[in-house]
Amino acid sequence: MTNTHSSQATPASASAPEIGLIDGLMTTRAIRRFSDRPVSDDDLVTCLRAAQQAPSGGNVQPQHYVVITSLELRAEMGRLYRSAFDRYEKSLPEPTAFRDESQAESWRRTRDASRHLADHLQEVPVLVIFLQPLIPWTPSDDEGTMDIGRLDASVYPAVQNFCLAARAFGLGTALTTVIRIHTAEVLQALGVPTGKDGSARFEIAALVPVGYPTGRFGVAPRRNASSVTHWDQWGSKRSAD
Ligand SMILES: Cc1cc2nc3c(=O)[nH]c(=O)nc-3n(C[C@H](O)[C@H](O)[C@H](O)COP(=O)(O)O)c2cc1C
Repeated sequence: MTNTHSSQATPASASAPEIGLIDGLMTTRAIRRFSDRPVSDDDLVTCLRAAQQAPSGGNVQPQHYVVITSLELRAEMGRLYRSAFDRYEKSLPEPTAFRDESQAESWRRTRDASRHLADHLQEVPVLVIFLQPLIPWTPSDDEGTMDIGRLDASVYPAVQNFCLAARAFGLGTALTTVIRIHTAEVLQALGVPTGKDGSARFEIAALVPVGYPTGRFGVAPRRNASSVTHWDQWGSKRSAD
């Protein structure tokens, strides 16, 4: 794909506060409660430029972004997201066993926060939809088809770059996908082009709400990296971190 931009290095943004790369990514987690403080277009544009710098297979850069700020479209996305989430939520089994109370509490927090986002998505100042084209992505030769990975592996790095850049501005984000349940309605509302026969040409990789969090950023609980890291051979672990 032709690169239409200069490769010359440019500063991220004069308004980006200083935060170390590791600190920024360690504290980038799913934010689902937002204040109504507006988000500047300049900051958004910097986040989108950071997204564009993500790697992609063969540097194909397949993604498009639809940035939604209008009240009307946010209301429509909110309606569709809530409907998708309602359906998804009903399909979730109520967990019966947790290792300990802190795990149970963490599950309840995620469930409540996810519900909150579903009920308030239309109030989030900005929604960014990451689209990926429906294009063939399986090369073949005389020996048959080749598994070179999926196309979305070339889109999610851009989503994460966007979220990390947003973190640098103190903006919260959450990578969400449940809206895919209503892909057709979303693409139509956003005027995303279809094929001549009306067939979809794009799918939704993610919907990312963007705004200033009402709470604080922090390091999310995770399994220790050492517990899932194998050195040279499966099962060969090093000391806990
Ligand atoms: C592929 C993917 C899909 C996700 N879809 C949703 C979603 O539809 N709705 C939602 O509220 N969160 C969604 N999440 C957010 C996850 O629930 C979240 O990343 C996870 O619970 C860890 O959150 P934490 O970083 O705050 O600990 C999704 C995350 C990923 C990576």
